[in-house]
Amino acid sequence: MPEADAVRARATVTRLALASLTTLKVGGEAEVWTCEADADVRDATRADFRVLGGGSNLLVGDGGVPERVVRLGRAYADARALDAAGDAWLGAAVPLPGLVRRARQLGLSGLEGVLGIPAQLGGAVVMNAGTRFGEIGDALQEVDLMLDGRVERVPAADLGLDYRRSELPPGTVVLRAHLRLTPSTPERVARAEEAVDAARRGQPKARSAGCAFKNPPGDAAGRLIDAAGLKGLRVGGAMIAHEHANFVVNLGDATAADVAMLLERVRAEVGVPLEVEWRRWGLPGGEAAARGWDHGRPAARPSTDEG
Ligand code: FAD
Ligand code: EPU
Repeated sequence: MPEADAVRARATVTRLALASLTTLKVGGEAEVWTCEADADVRDATRADFRVLGGGSNLLVGDGGVPERVVRLGRAYADARALDAAGDAWLGAAVPLPGLVRRARQLGLSGLEGVLGIPAQLGGAVVMNAGTRFGEIGDALQEVDLMLDGRVERVPAADLGLDYRRSELPPGTVVLRAHLRLTPSTPERVARAEEAVDAARRGQPKARSAGCAFKNPPGDAAGRLIDAAGLKGLRVGGAMIAHEHANFVVNLGDATAADVAMLLERVRAEVGVPLEVEWRRWGLPGGEAAARGWDHGRPAARPSTDEG
């Protein structure tokens, strides 16, 4: 079998509703390429593509996305390389919640701040996920990236990590991340996690994609939306959560168009400009109004949604 065919045989290609792969549970279909080796990723990224992590910071259009959706499979999701020494290379599909738990059990400090974030490690790097108690960037040493079919090792300091952002070139796939954690004790780590857990207690449990807007300098989007009296505001099946005003929850039958319209109403009513934190894929109804979204670049080859 020619090499290209052999490689293609390893990636699983399926047409799936992205609603099933995102935490907000909205979004139409795409061709999903699940990759188990770097060669699969190289192959999958030869045409226009987007990269899906845990799908916890995405609004996907009801019409789906025309590009390939590249996903890292189980081969990238094994956290066992993290041992008590606290220095490990991990695949970018490792789920953050399990990793945080493993670090606590091993008595390793450095991931307490990302407790409760339902990301994959790669998506956490791209968004520099975190809380005011700490970000993934604090523990990150370097990453292996695929760009234009080549694997490159890049130090964390060169990734442009900042509040909920990174500066990875469009078309980059994070393959692996090198984390360094500090030896401590499970008890101390658990104690540090208590403060993070307490800060998250007011967040809704219903389907969401976390906070919809970034906090503007010196203020909190949730406070502003709440002060504008918008808790409980609804468009179709999408609602501003009663528990926390910066969360949009899917009441069960929300469409991407509902969600997009709800966010536009919020932006119209809050006097301060608010930047949407989510990445947006595809074209839900009402997209003409989508000012200031981080939609990124629909796919001049190779592409991501880096906006
Ligand atoms: P996705 O949502 O799948 O993707 C996000 C972006 O990263 C996309 O642009 C995607 O293309 C890109 N990407 C993903 N994986 C890769 C990869 N391997 N290579 C290249 N690009 C990739 N965020 C916080 O920062 N703090 C919080 O406290 C927080 N709380 C949340 C609570 C809830 C209940 C939910 C649902 C979300 C929360 N979030 C929070 C938002 C979200 O979890 C983060 O933004 C997270 O970093 C997204 O990671 P992901 O793997 O789900 O990425
Ligand atoms: N507030 C209100 N009403 C609300 C919500 C918040 O008045 O409905 C007020 C609070 O009383 C507080 C302030 O707004 O004075 C900030 O609220 P909170 O402490 O809940 O933090 P936040 O800034 O809204 C941030 C992150 C969360 C992260 C928490 C915990 C952003 C946009 N949000 O929320 O991250 O989990 O801190 O540290 O930075 C995410 O990014 O998706 C996310 C969930």
